[in-house]
Amino acid sequence: MVDSLAIRNVAVFNTKGGEGKTTTAHALAEGLQRSGLQVLAVDMDPQANLTTRWDIENPEVTLFEVVQHQNVTFGNAIIELPGGVRLIPSASRVNGLSAALYGQPGAERWLRRQLASLPPSVADVVVIDLPPGRDMCGALGIAAAQLILAPTEPCPMGKMGLDQLFPTLGEAMQDNPGLLLWVVPVRIDRRTRLIPAMLRDYRKALAGRISAVDIPVAIALKEADGERLPIYDYAPRSKAAEAYEAMTAEVLGILLTGRLPGDTAAKAEA
Ligand SMILES: Nc1ncnc2c1ncn2[C@@H]1O[C@H](COP(=O)(O)OP(=O)(O)OP(=O)(O)O)[C@@H](O)[C@H]1O
Ligand SMILES: [Mg+2]
Repeated sequence: MVDSLAIRNVAVFNTKGGEGKTTTAHALAEGLQRSGLQVLAVDMDPQANLTTRWDIENPEVTLFEVVQHQNVTFGNAIIELPGGVRLIPSASRVNGLSAALYGQPGAERWLRRQLASLPPSVADVVVIDLPPGRDMCGALGIAAAQLILAPTEPCPMGKMGLDQLFPTLGEAMQDNPGLLLWVVPVRIDRRTRLIPAMLRDYRKALAGRISAVDIPVAIALKEADGERLPIYDYAPRSKAAEAYEAMTAEVLGILLTGRLPGDTAAKAEA
């Protein structure tokens, strides 16, 4: 049993594509579900990678139908997956959410309102997978989130992505002031010199906002994706599974306390 959480809504986001957002969202959702929480995963990416990661193809109801049809509720979009996670699936038509919500007052807060209206028994925690870039689907997820996890590869191109992330979130925080950001280093390849050296620089520059866990570059993650299995089932003793378990435990700590692990000043005040 897990005590009640200070934070319920987590979004996985980076403006840069292909960093490992969906892989991280999937591992976090499965990991939190295995910790005894009821997880609702929300795929906000019209690429629908999180949806296919759970082997769901051509879902009948997505958030697009919820916005378009008055008789389709947010709850109607939820799929119960065999492992216990609940999923709001995506499909390419979710691209149309932006046009469908256009002109509605507080459109960017639509997902936040929908999640707030869910009965508590539906989800202890919500894990939202966002698309890369800065579109409406991403904005909906950021506005709904209390915590952003940003998987980031410490490499020159990854750094450009991270440099864009802070201004993007800075804007979002004007409407969502309590939003926390937690950077998760991913694709760490210790055979190279560059990536571990950049990771050391990141840990200095982002002290208090970066995870102590780093997710290794791992073929097992790609294979687990191909087999449509959680990494914990596909390769339970792999370094990647262990790292994602450690990341899940760390994130659970943030969800329970509502504070980042390095936030010692806030802890001392509490
Ligand atoms: N740590 C890792 N080691 C090796 N491969 C990985 C790792 N993390 C992710 N991958 C692989 O990299 C590819 C992209 O990962 P993923 O889909 O999670 O990225 P993304 O950030 O969600 O991409 P997008 O921006 O398109 O949504 C996938 O094939 C995935 O299996
Ligand atoms: Mg993705």
